[in-house]
Amino acid sequence: MLDRLQAQAPDALLALIKMHAQDPREDKIDLGVGVYRTNEGATPVFRAIKKAEQKLVDEQDSKSYLGPEGDTGFVDALKPYVFGKDATMGGRIEGMQTPGGTGAVRLAVALAKAAGVTRVHMGTPSWPNHAQILADVGVEFVSFTHAKPDGSADLDAVLGAICGAGPTDAVLLHGCCHNPTGVDYTADQWAAIAEAFAETGVLPLLDVAYHGLGHGLEEDIAGVRQVLAKVPEALIAYSCDKNFGLYRDRVGAFYMLAKEPGQLPAITSNANALARANWSMPPDHGGAAVRYVLRDPSLTREWLEELDDMRARMRRVRARLAAADNEAPGLNLAALGEQNGLFATLPLDKNQIVKLREDHGIYMAGSGRINVAGLHAGNTDKFIAALADVTRG
Ligand code: LMR
Repeated sequence: MLDRLQAQAPDALLALIKMHAQDPREDKIDLGVGVYRTNEGATPVFRAIKKAEQKLVDEQDSKSYLGPEGDTGFVDALKPYVFGKDATMGGRIEGMQTPGGTGAVRLAVALAKAAGVTRVHMGTPSWPNHAQILADVGVEFVSFTHAKPDGSADLDAVLGAICGAGPTDAVLLHGCCHNPTGVDYTADQWAAIAEAFAETGVLPLLDVAYHGLGHGLEEDIAGVRQVLAKVPEALIAYSCDKNFGLYRDRVGAFYMLAKEPGQLPAITSNANALARANWSMPPDHGGAAVRYVLRDPSLTREWLEELDDMRARMRRVRARLAAADNEAPGLNLAALGEQNGLFATLPLDKNQIVKLREDHGIYMAGSGRINVAGLHAGNTDKFIAALADVTRG
């Protein structure tokens, strides 16, 4: 039976981690998978998380099962950051913990399918795993253009997708810090998107994986909140893997916005059943650590400072790249200064990407996506010189 299986290509992003690790060159640069790095190239555990973990170890008295919804204290503590002061939106929001943002996206798509959604529209390029999840869950994926060549978001395309959607369609949008382009919708564009969702009644699936890595926690979620304020229903996937640095601990949350509070028990019972069949219950440790951070004002302050430092460093890298626009003509590096989060996609062809890897030891996704946090004071000049080399006519 098993010999019928055809070999699958390894996930390209995860394969890049291995390729980079095997390269013996000391000045190699890893711009591949999306993890934050310090100016020294490290991805340390947040100080606030270390302290929370210590408390957790001291105080946790059982590791007995919780249930498919996971740590509800964690899920509730996160709500004000996502939904604002009225953190339940009048009792219309319920949430549950998931294994990372990926688990939340999967649950969003699976729940949408259970409710009758057959097609999901999504701007491309997108995080490659989005399309894989849609295919695996078994809904059709319809693509629209996310960004224009000038480096701004394509509003007409997203409005076209929402307004042209059929009665069993949903539309998936990145809440902020778009992966892989870094191109986010402006506040005015979000207002138009919110209006379109409200007018059509199309279900929004909102993926918030990089909250706080763009301009700030409030600023980065403002677009999502504009949509939520206008629509009767929405599904929100949230990741704490980047903004709490918990990557491999897999910390995510899935929130459901219902038309009326009375509909939530039925909706959440379906989400619980899907979670139970998929992973039974989420891993506990990371979510519990986030709960400790968010319930302790001094740890919250420390976390916010760490997040501010990350964001400021990425802004500096982006400004440096934008200032080098003339050094690598044709790549529109200037646009990177306006974009957000860990990623940018450079219009490099396959040969240029291979040359960057082979000649310069620079690793990036085959799409031309770079993780700007892989750059720092010690390697940015080298990166810009390498770009100049591969783009020289
Ligand atoms: C990325 O896009 O690099 C991250 O979201 C990590 C992943 O799981 O792909």
